[in-house]
Order: sequence, then structure tokens, then C-alpha cells
Amino acid sequence: MSEVSERVRVCPREELRPGLVKVVALGKDRHGLPREGLVLIDGRGDVRCWVNLCKHLPIPIDGGSREFFDEHGAHLFCGTHGAKFRLHDGYCIEGPCSGDALDAVEVLEEDGVVYVVPPPVGD
Ligand code: FES
Repeated sequence: MSEVSERVRVCPREELRPGLVKVVALGKDRHGLPREGLVLIDGRGDVRCWVNLCKHLPIPIDGGSREFFDEHGAHLFCGTHGAKFRLHDGYCIEGPCSGDALDAVEVLEEDGVVYVVPPPVGD
């Protein structure tokens, strides 16, 4: 039997603004470790959610620091080895995982509230 993911409420859309990341719990991965999503507004004004997991090594991009942006606030930044990821498509433009991209999480908006749909366990 396949498992259907429940959507997770993030916040009212109006609470999101450039330079802010809302961290949302996405349940556990197949190893039983907690998964997180990073919900933000990209440079085009669209809401995005990226899994907080670097594509270089399987560790959160913030390493627990809760610092997610580069010095200009224009890209997500992995504090471990300096990878930079575009906000709108998660693509790595600089660093050891250049050319790869953060895993996307589906975003929904309903009645002015933002939700995300956790990816199936194992993805
Ligand atoms: S772990 Fe993220 S760039 Fe190395």
C-alpha cells in the first residue's frame, strides 16, 4: 500500500518576505532522521520550499546554525563548504556540487495560507 503524504501548514503567505526562511518539519527519512524544508520567497516573488540537505554531503546546509543565505542574501548557502544555490530553482551555481540542485518540496497555497507536501519517505 502506498503512503499518501499529508500537507503541512507553514504560515500565512503574508508572513513570508525576502530574506526570511521558515523551517518546516517534513517527518523522518528512511533512516529515521528528521527532514526539514526551507520555505522562502524567491527573487520573483514565488514561494519555494527546498529540502535542507546539501547535495555535496548529506548534511543540512546550515549545519544547525540557522544561517541560510550568502552574504548578499541572494542565494541559499551551505556553510560547510560554501555551495551557493539559487532561490527559484535550487540550482547550485558555485561550490563542490555545482550543477546539482536542492530537492524541491511541493508548495500549496489555500485561502492565503502556505502548505508543503512532504516528499515520500525514501526519496
Ligand atoms: S556539505 Fe555542502 S558544500 Fe559541502
